[in-house]
Amino acid sequence: MKRAVYPGSFDPITKGHLDIIKRASKIFDEVIVAVATNSSKKPLFTIEERIEIINKVVQDYPNVKVDTFNGLLVEYCSNKEAYVIIKGLRAVSDFEYEFQMASINKKLKENIETLFMMTNTKYSYLSSSLVKEIGRLNGSIEDLVPQEIIPIILKKLNSLQ
Ligand code: PNS
Repeated sequence: MKRAVYPGSFDPITKGHLDIIKRASKIFDEVIVAVATNSSKKPLFTIEERIEIINKVVQDYPNVKVDTFNGLLVEYCSNKEAYVIIKGLRAVSDFEYEFQMASINKKLKENIETLFMMTNTKYSYLSSSLVKEIGRLNGSIEDLVPQEIIPIILKKLNSLQ
């Protein structure tokens, strides 16, 4: 079974993330969307909320599972018997950080590969941070996140104002 892990903060998941998940689900037998619990960023959504939101938008992809992980990503991958980490690359600016991450992960566990997928150019400008900022400032997030999760995001942002 070819299993891959797509890790991230997903705070919240965007159309860019979903596009990568869709494409990866065609390449691998199973894709685990793994939400990092120990991110240094201060998240808007709790881990449980992020999982619930992701589950809503991956329903059409039966070989996509949603999970969380704590600690080193490569340890999590080994435990799941997944030997590929999927990362999306939006622009050259992502490259330096991702190159460093892929290199350190390779050093930590040699048998795990990082596979980079180019983000669909439609979403190359998109990030979870921008979604939160635009939503907070009452802009439209219609084209940025899946339709069904817009009310959840706006409700959360409104509850903080
Ligand atoms: O969506 P993000 O915030 O860019 O995702 C970053 C993430 C969660 C993929 C990255 O921070 C990560 O892999 N964290 C787990 C800890 C780890 O293994 N770090 C790399 C070796 S130091």
